[in-house]
Amino acid sequence: MISLEHVTKRYGDRMAVDDLSIEIDDGDVAVLIGPSGCGKTTTLRMINRLIEPTSGRILIDGTDAATLKPEELRQHIGYAIQSVGLFPHLTVAENIATVPKLLGWKTARIVSRCEELLALVGLDPAQYSRKYPRQLSGGEAQRVGVARALAADPPILLMDEPFGAVDPLNRDRLQGEFLRIQRDLKKTVVFVTHDVDEAIRLADKIALMRDGHLEQYDSPEQLLDHPETKFVHDFVGADAALKRLGRVRVDSVMRTGQATVRADQPDAIEAACASESRFVYLVDADGVLVGWIDSRVLDRGTPAAEAATRVDWRQAAVRPDGSLKEALARMLALGYRSLPVVAAGGRLLGHVTLSDVEKTMEGGDAHLADHTDNEAGSIGGGGE
Ligand SMILES: Nc1ncnc2c1ncn2[C@@H]1O[C@H](COP(=O)(O)OP(=O)(O)O)[C@@H](O)[C@H]1O
Ligand SMILES: [Mg+2]
Repeated sequence: MISLEHVTKRYGDRMAVDDLSIEIDDGDVAVLIGPSGCGKTTTLRMINRLIEPTSGRILIDGTDAATLKPEELRQHIGYAIQSVGLFPHLTVAENIATVPKLLGWKTARIVSRCEELLALVGLDPAQYSRKYPRQLSGGEAQRVGVARALAADPPILLMDEPFGAVDPLNRDRLQGEFLRIQRDLKKTVVFVTHDVDEAIRLADKIALMRDGHLEQYDSPEQLLDHPETKFVHDFVGADAALKRLGRVRVDSVMRTGQATVRADQPDAIEAACASESRFVYLVDADGVLVGWIDSRVLDRGTPAAEAATRVDWRQAAVRPDGSLKEALARMLALGYRSLPVVAAGGRLLGHVTLSDVEKTMEGGDAHLADHTDNEAGSIGGGGE
């Protein structure tokens, strides 16, 4: 448990942080959010004593952080920042090894820890260990930054806009990966962002700050449904129902048991015609999504080959651990009323429909329904 008690940081006349009191339970993700300059980074840096408070106390498991040696704190607290802050002249493995080395770990232990962490953040150790930061994409560098913060297995993780510098698609992936890792590791995380959607998706509790003070500290649901001030209301925006979708995973409403045909079978088109479903998914020999067939188009006498729509699963499908908000955005962008759901390598798992997204928004219990049916007539936007 991290407790901030009446914490204040003053720079001259300016109150960067003003009488801030919050408690963060073990294993929770607390997100600090608010406009630029509201005191998020200052708050985070006071927790690991990169900055000392002017007044007030920060307790970590009941111990006043001011009484702990900075080295002890460093073992206890991982730190990941925007634009990563990787050392450019060190390899990926050397970057991750920084804190374990300071802690005097044996080489073999450091090497195996690096490999374990790279695998955890979805990077192949054989491929990435010896690369230099400049050889990484933004998303890869960010993953290495997270791996480095986790290196000494600290119970507490501080993250300052860690995904702030990556593009929206990679940001969505990184958020999904963060949630997956956090489900396993159960760190106590303090996460800074200025992105409301990111806060809503990741947080157990959100601390909304303004000019150094706390406006509201609550669960995302509570913040969306019961904003305590006009500032909170205006900050989270009017579309609370839409924002709430950011907390619902795709696989919680995913339908399975859809009609599927191997695309390389000579009679794929005929098999699709024979199916009772309007839409039939095409997969390759490994079950990877390659397209679909609209049987309604077939009925109208279109040549069979033209009825098959070829797609790239990277663009036309969503992941099971993605959010419904992302799925809805993709449906609207592509003009589809249903999207296939695929595993990491593109293997088809099921599909998610617009009507289920709508039911979820209305507070219906779509995710409790039986999803082994095959709702015909719900893939394509065209041909309607
Ligand atoms: N070293 C400093 N000296 C003077 N003012 C500072 C210093 N660091 C931060 N501030 C001020 O404190 C306020 C909070 O800054 P910061 O915590 O970085 O905000 P945020 O991370 O929310 O954007 C800002 O007004 C900033 O200008
Ligand atoms: Mg900041």
